[in-house]
Amino acid sequence: MRVFLLLLSVLSLGLAGKVAIFLAPLSKSQIVFNLRLAEEIAVDHDVVLVRPSFNPNAESLVSSHPRVRELRPKGCNPSTFHAFYEAENAWVWTDPTFAEFGNITKFYRQMFYETCENMAGDEAFMEAMRKENIDLAIHHHLDSCTLGVVRALKIPQWGWVLSTPLFRSMINMVGVPALPSHIPSLLTDASNDMAFFKRVKNFAWELFCDLYLPLGSAPYTAIYREKYGEDFPTLSQIAREGSFLMVNSHADIEFPIPVTSKIVYIGGLGMKKETNQLKEPFASSVNQSTSTVVVSFGSVADTKHMPVHWKEAFIGLFKSNPSIRFIWKFDQAIDVPSNVLRVGWLPQNDLLGHEKVVAFITHGGYNSLGESISTGTPIVTVPLFGDQFRNAQLAEFRHFGVRVYKQDLSADNLNTALHKIMDDPSYLSSARLAQSIAFSSPLSTGLTIRHTINFTLAHPHYNRDLPQLGFFSLYSVDVIVFLFFLHLSLFSSL
Ligand SMILES: *[C@@H]1O[C@H](CO)[C@@H](O)[C@H](O)[C@H]1NC(C)=O
Ligand SMILES: *[C@@H]1O[C@H](CO)[C@@H](O)[C@H](O)[C@H]1NC(C)=O
Ligand SMILES: *[C@@H]1O[C@H](CO)[C@@H](O)[C@H](O)[C@H]1NC(C)=O
Repeated sequence: MRVFLLLLSVLSLGLAGKVAIFLAPLSKSQIVFNLRLAEEIAVDHDVVLVRPSFNPNAESLVSSHPRVRELRPKGCNPSTFHAFYEAENAWVWTDPTFAEFGNITKFYRQMFYETCENMAGDEAFMEAMRKENIDLAIHHHLDSCTLGVVRALKIPQWGWVLSTPLFRSMINMVGVPALPSHIPSLLTDASNDMAFFKRVKNFAWELFCDLYLPLGSAPYTAIYREKYGEDFPTLSQIAREGSFLMVNSHADIEFPIPVTSKIVYIGGLGMKKETNQLKEPFASSVNQSTSTVVVSFGSVADTKHMPVHWKEAFIGLFKSNPSIRFIWKFDQAIDVPSNVLRVGWLPQNDLLGHEKVVAFITHGGYNSLGESISTGTPIVTVPLFGDQFRNAQLAEFRHFGVRVYKQDLSADNLNTALHKIMDDPSYLSSARLAQSIAFSSPLSTGLTIRHTINFTLAHPHYNRDLPQLGFFSLYSVDVIVFLFFLHLSLFSSL
């Protein structure tokens, strides 16, 4: 029997494939998401995380899963990352000027360009990858350079993963024509029902996103062509060949969006309905009152740079609610009222899952939004940058969140928003509804991911594409013109 089991496990090991995940470790939340993805896939297959160095503060976040290994090619110089980080943090607390936004884009590009040059030129890394015999690769959406690595190594299958909600330029990339008129861009502060000027803004952002891929990836193509010859395809050509697009949101909570089966929703990855028991000092802190509110602005926003009037606004909010217990993630020394526990780190998901935690004040990053959904906790969002505006809009659209504009941040506005979600029970019931929808699928997120990988390995290049039509055919312009003239000629012949 034992021999048989051993044989069986050897056989199933033989069937297991090897999956590479290319990640850009820009922020801790990016890494956490990719580690969860890796560990899920490692249930069935061996996983190699390809992790170029970016953020020196995030180096120690690793997986301890026995089937998850890492390769760390050289990424960008720490000074380049630092320049980007500083420029990005100017965006965090205020609205960036056009010039500042230009700087952010410039440093972002520089960071990824350096990484691409280092990675593509790193023969030891390429050789190590070749030896791995990878069956399937997964690319994060942040950058396209790694598509060249996959092509150069002739890895047979690959797909995309989006650590954020779905956005239009990515939907287009996997061959689904989607319109900017009813799909808010990742970076537009808009819901899906947009008035004229919002649509103008959204259109402009989408144009930027559509041009970003071919323009932004041209220098990478040049790197690969120099190494592998002029017939190396452009990265924007390769980008359209992905077999799937896994996206970090829930099909029924996300804004309704037309998709094909290439798009796989994996929102709630790694999240459970049951959370762990709280440890100290959180357990006794939560015990001290009937209601606790958690306040956290995530890992990217550097609280060192938080403007003074913001700190005053939070302290003011805490003072006007002495009967509420606040747990505040804020890593600078500061005097706080006695109803506040200030900490540098908190077990966010376990706290939100506690029955006494009634609300969450957050920047609305995708991990935080996901945890608010999986724990059924209503939120006050103060979106700071990136996709957070859109996430805040989604929480309002699904009625489990109220948003405070960062330009209007004050103790009064925070207080009004907090009492709105605490005193009006419809916010709690919408949060609970989102939670129950998130957990209602017969396939768990983990199984969905594992099925996607197995499906792709078992059915290489299976056709799930819409026929690619030109503009005139897609919008039936030719048909309309034809019918118009047919009508005219019939009419005139009468
Ligand atoms: C995926 O394939 C592996 C290896 O063939 C198998 O052990 C595993 O059960 C499959 N997983 C799913 C979710 O189908
Ligand atoms: C852009 O970055 C450069 C280099 O760090 C800096 O000197 C300049 O002031 C920045 N410009 C803006 C508008 O922030
Ligand atoms: C919480 O309070 C209850 C009742 O006052 C007490 O029995 C329990 O030990 C407390 N738990 C913690 C973790 O402080």
